[in-house]
Amino acid sequence: MADIKLHGEVFYPSKKVVQYANIKDWDELDKKAKEDYPGFWESIAAELDWFGKWDKVIDESQKPFYKWFTNAKVNIVYNCLDRHVKTSRRNKLALIWEGENGEFKAYSYYALHRDTCKFANILKSMGVKKGDRVTIYMGRVPEIVMAMLACARIGAIHSVVYGGFSVEALHERLEDSHSKVLIVADGAYQRGKIVKLKDIADEALERAASVEHVLVVKRTGQDVKMEVGRDMWYHELMNMPIANRSCEMEEMDSEDPLFILYTSGTTGKPKAILHTHGGYMVGVYATLKYVFDIHDEDRYWCAADPGWITGHSYIVYGPLLNGATSFLYEGAPTHPYPNRWWQMIERYGINILYTAPTAIRGLMRFGDAWVTRHDLSSLRLLGSVGEPINPEAWKWYYTVVGKENCPIMDTWWQTETGMFMITPMPCVPLKPGSGTKPFPGIVMDVVNEEGESVKPNEEGYLVIKTPWPAMIRTIYKDDKRYEEQYWGKYAGMYLTGDSAKKDEDGYFWVIGRVDDVIKVSGYRLGTAEIESALVSHSAVAEAAAIGLPHEVKGNAIHTYVILKSGFVKSHELAEELRRHVGHEVGPIAKPESIEFVDSLPKTRSGKIMRRVLKAKALGQDPGNLSTLEN
Ligand code: WT7
Repeated sequence: MADIKLHGEVFYPSKKVVQYANIKDWDELDKKAKEDYPGFWESIAAELDWFGKWDKVIDESQKPFYKWFTNAKVNIVYNCLDRHVKTSRRNKLALIWEGENGEFKAYSYYALHRDTCKFANILKSMGVKKGDRVTIYMGRVPEIVMAMLACARIGAIHSVVYGGFSVEALHERLEDSHSKVLIVADGAYQRGKIVKLKDIADEALERAASVEHVLVVKRTGQDVKMEVGRDMWYHELMNMPIANRSCEMEEMDSEDPLFILYTSGTTGKPKAILHTHGGYMVGVYATLKYVFDIHDEDRYWCAADPGWITGHSYIVYGPLLNGATSFLYEGAPTHPYPNRWWQMIERYGINILYTAPTAIRGLMRFGDAWVTRHDLSSLRLLGSVGEPINPEAWKWYYTVVGKENCPIMDTWWQTETGMFMITPMPCVPLKPGSGTKPFPGIVMDVVNEEGESVKPNEEGYLVIKTPWPAMIRTIYKDDKRYEEQYWGKYAGMYLTGDSAKKDEDGYFWVIGRVDDVIKVSGYRLGTAEIESALVSHSAVAEAAAIGLPHEVKGNAIHTYVILKSGFVKSHELAEELRRHVGHEVGPIAKPESIEFVDSLPKTRSGKIMRRVLKAKALGQDPGNLSTLEN
């Protein structure tokens, strides 16, 4: 592939990069995968340990409810921990952690296995059984990793709620998942301040009924309210006999649920995306191995949050499945100074850095000197995820951070896909802003309204035409919504919700969401969540939210509010509404602007026409207005 002349601005990998890479010939791998797709995945699955073999690699008999590795017996945690503890990896570091306040912890595979087993026994003593849901709400601390693994080990379904979410977001997710246990930290450090997670959880629990026990992990140490009979300290239980060192592994069916993770969709409430033990394990293992080219001696850092899919797949499960050493940092990239990240890369000798365009743009603002004063020569590969990366940020990342030696893996994927879908590998020629091509064997396309492939460089809907092992299995408790939302528009095609172009070389260029999802700093938020938070305030009658371009965040939230009669618009009220959204959904959802209006553009059936608001705000032509009522 490196010999073919490609169109546009292309960065070819150096000989050194290709020589070192596990995969040296992308075309060959893709050919192999396309010739025998089940066989390709089967041979990867065979690299992992199973308690019982599958009957079939892919079962398509009940489309779109695909099954992978049917009837196989497995537990992802066995492959993350137990497998390595039996080898010379036993004493290898699995996790290196640095707190925002400079604290440091490291766990070998042995130690992570030990604490996960103890944690799992605590959960068992609280009555958690296979299939039960457990909600996890904490910052970026090692215990979040152990909490997830402990659930999975005993067959419980974890539901991690991002620590940046707040009261109503947590309440909604506790209620929908019907969680029996909540694992929460007392607080989290963020920019030198304490986010009082337990206080937020207490308020959410007043609104939610199903939770029987709350397990509290001490991190920030301020006083918290402990409700007798409901709340227990993790560190106290870890020192009691119930936290036994040995904990039997629950034997799971390949298709048994591993976790649910809430994400925003087109309409209504966030939906719980369901992933399984078998297929998810194989997909995440393979993609991390090939794309970030994991070698045994690597130190790998995915700077996302475990509370999002990036963290699930590529902080927790992927690195552990590969027996890698992974780094986790608790706080803000600029605390106390804008060199914090670069300092840690130097200190720990990080080889691979995987982050989001918004973080790159945010750090770029402070100038090159913060970066160049550190020795970053350990870096070999860089990564990007979450939104399209603009060429300017790509080039800064490539030259200033990577010193033109590190290919950038721009990975396109979603909570629903579980694993990288459009992604380069180190041996693939890069074009800034393009994730290159689908992972070997996977067929994706850009189609028009009728579902027909569009011509090169024409915009259309991004779709996936082959099933893949880490694919969403359903929306928890809502098979119908799963079928309609993802497979309802075109027969046999998974609708991503993104628009894209494919160029004459077959490279994909993702443009952005075409639904009511707003990507703010790479975080996925639904207009509906922001609007319902606004409407839950006593002064608000109606509200509409849209995303508008923002230099650092990618998109920012702008809102339009109709007040109830008797309320008067004011700067103070706008501020109060912003705070209210922050309190209910989370700081990331705080609107950039609030404009008080007398009416909103609606269709005759009463749907808010957000595209009209958007066009007006951008000074563009709103297009077809035939359905507009007012
Ligand atoms: C949406 C999914 C899965 C990782 C984190 C986001 C956008 C993601 C890219 C990329 C352009 C991207 C898409 C997608 N997106 N990665 N490399 N280039 N856009 O997961 O929260 O489920 O969001 O993020 O719009 O649909 P998510």
